[in-house]
Parts: sequence; C-alpha cells; structure tokens
Amino acid sequence: MRKILVIGIGAGDPDYVTVQAIKALNQADVFFINDKGDDKAELVRIRKDICERYITDRTYRIVETRDPERDPALPSYLEGVESWHTQRAEIYEALIQAELDETEGCGAFLVWGDPSLYDSTLRILEQILARGVTRFDYDVIPGISSIQALAAKHRSPINEIGGSIRVTTGRQLVADGLPDNADTVVVMLDANCSFTTINEDVEISWGANLGTDQEILISGTLRDVTDSIKRARDRVKQTSGWVMDTYLLRRQPRG
Ligand SMILES: C[S@@+](CC[C@H](N)C(=O)[O-])C[C@H]1O[C@@H](n2cnc3c(N)ncnc32)[C@H](O)[C@@H]1O
Repeated sequence: MRKILVIGIGAGDPDYVTVQAIKALNQADVFFINDKGDDKAELVRIRKDICERYITDRTYRIVETRDPERDPALPSYLEGVESWHTQRAEIYEALIQAELDETEGCGAFLVWGDPSLYDSTLRILEQILARGVTRFDYDVIPGISSIQALAAKHRSPINEIGGSIRVTTGRQLVADGLPDNADTVVVMLDANCSFTTINEDVEISWGANLGTDQEILISGTLRDVTDSIKRARDRVKQTSGWVMDTYLLRRQPRG
C-alpha cells in the first residue's frame, strides 16, 4: 500500500530536524511542498534546503503544490476553513494518485513545526481516507513547535508550578480577552498584534521568525514593550519578506 509520512521539520532552524525526521526523509520518493504565495517563498526554500542537507541515501522528487485561496465571501471563519480544507484535500488526493505507486510509493509532507499544532495536514489526510477512493497508510513524525522554540529562546518554562496553560490564536484573544482560568496563555496565528487589546498588567515573552537569522526576541511588561514589539514585527517582515510570531502572556503576580 502507498505510504505517506507527515514529517514535522521544526519551526525555522534546520537544526531542529530530529533524528527520527532525518530517517523518515530518507524513506520518501516524493516530497509534496505547498507553496502559500510569494511572501512565503522563503518557507519553501527552507524545506528544499532541509531535503538537500539531510537526504543522503536516495534520489527523490519534489512536487510543488499551490495553496488554494480562501473564499472571503463565505460568511463564517469556520465555513471558510472547511471549504479551504476540502479544496486542499482534492489537490492532495490527485497528487497522491498521480505521483505515488499504488503498491509501494512513499510520499512525504514536510510540516512546519509540529504536525499536531495549527496545521491541517492530518485532518486533510483523514478527509481523503474517509472518501474511500484513495488508499494509503500514514505515519506522523513529531517536530519542534514554535512554542517549544519560544520557551527555549527565552529560557522560560511554559507553565507555572502546577498551573494550567491555554494555547490560543490572536483571533480568539481579541474575541474572549485574556482567559481567567489559565495562568499562562500562548498566542499563535496573530497577524494583528492582538496583545494591544489587553488592558491588564501582564508579562509578555515574544518571538518572531524563531530559529532563523532574522529571529527577534523581546520580553517585559506588556505596557512597556508593546511599541518595540510592533516596530520589531514590521522590521522583521521587511527584512525577511515574512513574519510569524508567537508569544506567551502571564499575569503579573499579585502583590
Ligand atoms: C499555521 S501555524 C503552524 C504552527 C506549527 N505547526 C508549529 O508547530 O509551530 C503558524 C503559526 O505558528 C507560529 N510560528 C511558526 N513558526 C514560527 C517561528 N519560526 N517563529 C515564531 N512563530 C512561529 C506563529 O504563531 C504562526 O502564526
């Protein structure tokens, strides 16, 4: 049966690629690399560099796919994402059929960070299998997520002792505010500096383009560092052509 490997490649630094990921990279005949548009071209290049650097045992092919556009006309965010996943599933299914030998082909998706975290690849593969037309088996190889990279760079534990953590998105932070029932909040997928909507005294540990040459780290009391984060975010976007940031928020200990 066809085999698919979903390989977490870490969030930026090629040194984040694990030994298990290197073994998996050396098993695949074909790598499916999703191009998400011009400003993300660098992310395609990083994936190709990882293949060049770590694949020593075999010849392989790279097949680039173009990401479908999300339909802004769809009324809700969830509907938009569902329809986008369906389009991606159609594209991936056609590629799997066309590019992988039905009995022994092995293909791989190189997933940024870890495949379990804000990534649609696993859902899409399940969607394809549920249609019952294209058969394959698949394995998931974990990667170093941007949350782990952020915590390591700030030399900070993520949880308070015995405390709880909420991982959320910029969109949810704006909608719900800072949750009462989490000591630490980790925010991802925030294109709009959503931390500016918080009016409480919190500490922030922020990082952009972690693991790359343009990485920037800032930490401190949110009120004090908000402007420098906004400026740094703009600067890194200009120099790299793309910016991804993740941050950790913690209420200041009550005195
Ligand atoms: C689509 S999600 C993918 C997350 C990924 N699967 C992971 O494990 O980190 C993209 C978000 O991850 C975070 N992210 C990914 N790479 C990053 C990096 N190198 N530096 C800072 N944040 C990053 C950002 O919050 C970005 O908006």
